[in-house]
Amino acid sequence: MSFENKIKELLEKREQAKLGGGQKRIDAQHHKGKLTARERIDLLLDEGSFEEFDMFVTHRCNDFGLEKQQYYSDGVITGFGTIDGRLVYVFAQDFTVFGGSLSLAYAEKICKVMDKALKMGAPVIGLNDSGGARIQEGVNSLAGYAEIFQRNIMSSGVIPQISGIFGPCAGGAVYSPALTDFTIMTKENSYMFVTGPKVVKTVTGEVVTEQELGGAMTHGTKSGVTHFIADDEQEGLLLIRKLLSFLPQNNLEEPPLAPCDDPIDRLEDELNSIIPENPNKPYNVKDVIYAIVDYSEFLEVQRNYAPNIVTGFAHFNGMPVGVVANQPNYLAGVLDINASRKAARFVRFCDAFNIPLVTLVDVPGFLPGTTQEYGGIIIHGAKLLYAYGEATVPKVTIILRKAYGGAYCVMSSKHLRGDINYAWPMAEIAVMGPKGAIEVLRSKEIKALESEEEKTRFVVEQEKEYLDKFATPYHAAKFGYIDDVIEPRNTRFRVIRALQSLATKKDLNPPKKHSNLPL
Ligand code: HXC
Repeated sequence: MSFENKIKELLEKREQAKLGGGQKRIDAQHHKGKLTARERIDLLLDEGSFEEFDMFVTHRCNDFGLEKQQYYSDGVITGFGTIDGRLVYVFAQDFTVFGGSLSLAYAEKICKVMDKALKMGAPVIGLNDSGGARIQEGVNSLAGYAEIFQRNIMSSGVIPQISGIFGPCAGGAVYSPALTDFTIMTKENSYMFVTGPKVVKTVTGEVVTEQELGGAMTHGTKSGVTHFIADDEQEGLLLIRKLLSFLPQNNLEEPPLAPCDDPIDRLEDELNSIIPENPNKPYNVKDVIYAIVDYSEFLEVQRNYAPNIVTGFAHFNGMPVGVVANQPNYLAGVLDINASRKAARFVRFCDAFNIPLVTLVDVPGFLPGTTQEYGGIIIHGAKLLYAYGEATVPKVTIILRKAYGGAYCVMSSKHLRGDINYAWPMAEIAVMGPKGAIEVLRSKEIKALESEEEKTRFVVEQEKEYLDKFATPYHAAKFGYIDDVIEPRNTRFRVIRALQSLATKKDLNPPKKHSNLPL
């Protein structure tokens, strides 16, 4: 064959590969409102930056007549490219080839980019849209999945791993996204479950749709499996780009500084009056976040799951920071099982990737009750405690209002190696709220009083005395547990100064094989 023809052959093969499972299946994909794997990669990466690997890989299965069905790329597009000029590795499952199902060759392609990502210290992004294990390949397909899982585990805490779920993701296949740091689902076409509606009906008798069982709303609100819900794939892909802008390339690098013209000493007068006079009245802690971060930009993680705690990324004078805040607007900002799990995972992510933590505290305690106790609030609450205590990144804490009981200790307190702990003048730091405290301390005296009127008067007096002593930050400040009491409107400036002072922080945990986090 002449060289000219060899080049022609290459170009023809490429064209063929780009058609995946064929135009009909591409049309069907579009008809469902879905993009193809290649279209997704084009939208995700910087224009023209994609370099593809293994375009000419085909499967090696000779069972069920599969030897007669060969498609270049074998159902997954892999390679590297850039996002905002920074290297990333990517794989995108191609539903047009055998429903995106995973063969051994396909798994090897994914493993190749995962290995390269780990060696190069660059994030890996997986775009999932697959019918799961390629049934004709039997155990080879299962082996392929397990090889991917092993790499997810080895990469965990070393390079950021992000999963977009843009179609089916079922059976054991769900465990790769679950092992990654962040999962993004689209509202209409994506679902994740270990067993689908048919099996559920057979085993438990429950009748449930795919979306009810494992759609984005389910995982974004009920299970907490997904971190972001996107209206469509375009939004999902943009979200991945945005998310990466807060993250370092790997655990040995610092997160990237963003340009910032937002004045660091911007005073926010409305913060001086944001806390209601009545301590039982709520307010929206996100208003505090928006007021103090650069340009009021906050990328919220798990927005609809456990909204009694808010987690997300923001910049302070261009420095990427993880923000954790109790939300008085929902369940009074109490810590329950879901909130503890949500925040613990976020804190651990930030710590693994050198992202400082800013914690805004307004927490009345842990949620009481049998549901919580039977569900193991002790273990789950301990996760958050553990995460904060283990974290060695800069930790800046501001107590806005309540910090009661164990929740005071948990929320990045001085005693868990909080670096700089501030409080607003409205802060109340105590073992418990006044009502509970007086009931415990003065129950005998209350019982001894005859009339209801006397009892009420006594309780009010006692509560006032308790509040005067403990419903202030100064008692804690006296012991140095609070480094300073700050004016709310000046919070942005004080947080930025604190973070600047902590930029060179070095802290280590004792050497160990790994910790024994209360799982
Ligand atoms: C081989 C598959 C396949 C699979 C789909 N296809 N899933 N081929 N192995 N797992 C093929 C179909 O035969 C079809 O081929 C094409 O992909 C498109 O599938 P359709 O069914 O036409 O598409 P749709 O109606 O959109 O339905 C999509 C689907 C359905 C819901 C994903 O295909 C489905 O239920 N597939 C099986 C899912 C499953 O049970 N997988 C195993 C899960 S267990 P043609 O040639 O007709 O276009 C698992 C274990 C992992 O994955 C364990 C890891 C440890």
